[in-house]
Amino acid sequence: MSQPNGGTFDIVILGAGSGGYAAALRAAELDLSVALIDKAELGGTCLHRGCVPTKALLHAAEIADQTREAEQFGIKADLVGIDMAGVNAYKDGVVSRLYKGLQGLLKQDKITIVAGTGKLVAQDTVEVDGKRYTGRNIILASGSYSRSLPGLEIDGKRVVASEHALKFDRVPASVIVLGGGVIGVEFASVWKSLGAEVTILEALPRLVAAEDEDISKQVERAFRKRKINFKVGKPFEKLEHTENGVKATIQGGETIEAEIMLVAVGRGPTTDGLGYAEQGITLDRGYVITNERLHTGVGNIYAIGDIVPGLQLAHRGFAQGIFVAEEIAGKNPAVIDEAGIPRVTYCDPEVASMGLTEAKAKEKYGADKVETYNYNLGGNGKSQILKTQGFVKLVREVGGPVVGVHMVGARMSEQVGEAQLIYNWEAFPEEVAQLVHAHPTQNEALGEAFLALAGKPLHAHS
Ligand code: NAI
Repeated sequence: MSQPNGGTFDIVILGAGSGGYAAALRAAELDLSVALIDKAELGGTCLHRGCVPTKALLHAAEIADQTREAEQFGIKADLVGIDMAGVNAYKDGVVSRLYKGLQGLLKQDKITIVAGTGKLVAQDTVEVDGKRYTGRNIILASGSYSRSLPGLEIDGKRVVASEHALKFDRVPASVIVLGGGVIGVEFASVWKSLGAEVTILEALPRLVAAEDEDISKQVERAFRKRKINFKVGKPFEKLEHTENGVKATIQGGETIEAEIMLVAVGRGPTTDGLGYAEQGITLDRGYVITNERLHTGVGNIYAIGDIVPGLQLAHRGFAQGIFVAEEIAGKNPAVIDEAGIPRVTYCDPEVASMGLTEAKAKEKYGADKVETYNYNLGGNGKSQILKTQGFVKLVREVGGPVVGVHMVGARMSEQVGEAQLIYNWEAFPEEVAQLVHAHPTQNEALGEAFLALAGKPLHAHS
C-alpha cells in the first residue's frame, strides 16, 4: 500500500542541528525548496545540549572565580554561594533567545519543518510517521550521541553524560570526569569553579591529547594550580556503585571515589536504525563515508556534520551544510580543508588552535624542516592585567608559511579568527609581523609571536 505523501522537495534534510539547519538556510537563499526533519528541537545538540549551554556555564564559572579572586585586584567581594537555579535560568535564557531567533530564521516559504523521527526508506525518500517526503536530493545530518564504554551504564543520575550534567540543580560535592578530552576538561573546569572536588581520568598520557604537547603541559600546569586532580596514562577499568556515590578503578588497581561520574569518552554518530545501510550507504563504525564533496556515492544523497568522520564541531557542520546546499545548487563551492577549521576548548585557561601541531608538522615536512616559536604571555601587557599565563606557539615550515598556531591562556578563544586567516592564507611570519596589533590586547600576543619568528622580537622574554 502506498504511503501518504508529505510532498516533493529539492532537498530533504534529516536532522536540524548545526549542519542540517545551515544547509536549509543556504538552500532557501538559493531558491531551493527544503523539508527539514527533526524529532527534537530545531538547533540540535549544539544549541540545546552542547556548545551554547556549556559555554554559558563556563561564563558563570568564570564569574565565580573572579569573585573569589577579586581581592588581588583590590576589589572587596565575597563569594557567598552558587545558586544553581539562578545559573540555570541564565543559561536557559541564552538558549531560549537563540532558539527563538533560529525558529524565526527558519520560518520561511521555502522551508517546511517536519517534526518527527525520519527514516531513509528509499534513495530519494525519508519517511516520518507514515508520511513520505521525497527529495531530488537528500542530506543526512543526524548528528551524534554521548558514547559510553562497554559495561558502563549511563543512568543520568550517578553516572551522567554531558547532556545530564547541563541540567544539574546543584553542584555535586565531588566528580570523577572520565576522559580528559574537550568535554572532560570543560566540565572539570566548570565544576571546580563552582566548588566541586574534581578528578579527571584519562587513558592517554596527557590531557587534551589531540592538541600540541606544549598546550597539554600548560593546561596540566594550570589545572594543578587550580587543584583539579587528574590521572593520565592509565585507562579506566571499572565502576562500582557505593552507598554515597561511585568508585572507579583504573589500570594498576588505584581507586577513586566521588559522588558522581561524568562520562566524556567521545561522541558516536547517530546512524543506527535510520535506514542508511539498507539504501546502500557505506558506514564505517557507524560513520557515513563520503567523498571530499560530501556525497555518499548513492543516488543524490549527501552527509554532513558529526556523522561524517572528522572534527565533531558545530562550525564544521555549518560550513558543510552551506557547502552541500551550494553544491546542489550547482555553485561548485571549494572543498573544505579540514585542517583549516579552528578548534577551541573553553576550559580555564582557554585553548585555541589552528592547523598542525609541532609533531604533525614534523611528520609531514621532516623534523629539520620545521621551526617553532613560543611567545610567553608573561611579556604581554593585557595578560599581566588579566593575571593569566600561557603562550602562543607558532609552527612554520622552514623558509615557508605558518602551518600551525597553538594558543593557551585567558580569552584565547577570541584570537582564533586571526590564526585562522594566517593558516588558511598560508601567511609567512614576515608578512604577519608587518601588521600592527592593538596594544594592550591578548591579540597582541599573536603579533608579538610573529615579530619574534620573523627575527625582530619586541616584548619577548626567552
Ligand atoms: P574526546 O575525543 O575529545 O575525548 C575523549 C577522551 O576520553 C579521550 O582523550 C580518550 O583518550 C578518553 N578515553 C577514552 N576511553 C577511555 C578510558 N577507558 N579511560 C580513560 N579515558 C578514556 O571526546 P569528548 O571530550 O567526549 O568530546 C566529544 C566531541 O565533542 C569531540 O569530538 C569534541 O570535538 C566535541 N566537542 C567540542 C567542544 C568544543 O569545540 N569546545 C566542546 C565539547 C565537545
